[in-house]
Amino acid sequence: MAGDPIASAGSDAPAAPGASSRPVQAEAPGRVFITGASSGIGAALARRYAARGAVVGLVGRRREALQAVADALPGQGHRVYALDVRDRAALRDAARDFQADGPADRVIACAGISAGTLTDAPEDFEVFQAIFDTNVLAMVATFEPFIAAMRARRQGVLVGIGSVAGVRGLPGAGAYSASKAAVRAYCESLRVELRGSGVQVVTLAPGFIATPMTARNPYRMPFLMPVDRFARQAVRAIESGDRYRVIPWPMAWVGRLLRLVPDALYDAVAAGRKRKPRVHRDPE
Ligand SMILES: NC(=O)c1ccc[n+]([C@@H]2O[C@H](COP(=O)([O-])OP(=O)(O)OC[C@H]3O[C@@H](n4cnc5c(N)ncnc54)[C@H](OP(=O)(O)O)[C@@H]3O)[C@@H](O)[C@H]2O)c1
Repeated sequence: MAGDPIASAGSDAPAAPGASSRPVQAEAPGRVFITGASSGIGAALARRYAARGAVVGLVGRRREALQAVADALPGQGHRVYALDVRDRAALRDAARDFQADGPADRVIACAGISAGTLTDAPEDFEVFQAIFDTNVLAMVATFEPFIAAMRARRQGVLVGIGSVAGVRGLPGAGAYSASKAAVRAYCESLRVELRGSGVQVVTLAPGFIATPMTARNPYRMPFLMPVDRFARQAVRAIESGDRYRVIPWPMAWVGRLLRLVPDALYDAVAAGRKRKPRVHRDPE
């Protein structure tokens, strides 16, 4: 699935209209907490921050996969938290443990799932629920236990991973598209709420990035980007104080265009698009 577009373009790119940056946080990030760190984008961000000298807290359900990522990181002191981000109490415990050794400078809510869903398939309701719980509510639960300490220090960055898929409703992916639209709006609300507090909120909207999530997509993925290249640009966007960034940058223009397309034209074109497979398979 794709990520989000609109406002700004990618870091290597000429800034798109609407791109805007804030002053960079004073200190280089020493401690970074990342959900969804056992795979794909989250693991690549962990590698990138560790290479810059950060101590990383890695969250995911699969302990062995997390440990393998942690073991391969440069530096010492990285922590592994094997938990389900839908478990708010477990997230709170992990946040407390991570902050016991020092405040978190960056918190990246990257854990996410994607699957095709159909509203008129009753068995898909639980898939809708899992996607919203993981992609939206778990992001709130990830940020919540860090905000008080960041406010007190008047520094820190919260990063939400959205998607270009949140720009328009993709057929067959109502849950995922809606969850990523919600991420964008939620992060924007939080960003404004925290204005002036010293705590910044960054929304990253990936286009198509080569990870296990996209590996089985049965459609063409324009501007598909290797995950380590994504992570390099993502860290640059976070550290330069961006508010909202689409990566790779050509997808920002795709997103802008999608926004401008009239509904009737969008419906006609999108209706024929190949769809993300459902968990509950369509009959052959
Ligand atoms: N790849 C793309 O093209 C693309 C585009 C736009 C947006 N995104 C977004 O980027 C984020 C990362 O995706 P990815 O492509 O890196 O996919 P991925 O390789 O499938 O990674 C997903 C990560 O989320 C974790 N996760 C999922 N459910 C979880 C749960 N309930 N509790 C804890 N961790 C959970 C997984 O860990 P465990 O399995 O160990 O729990 C894994 O580390 C997602 O939010 C996705 O929507 C990706």
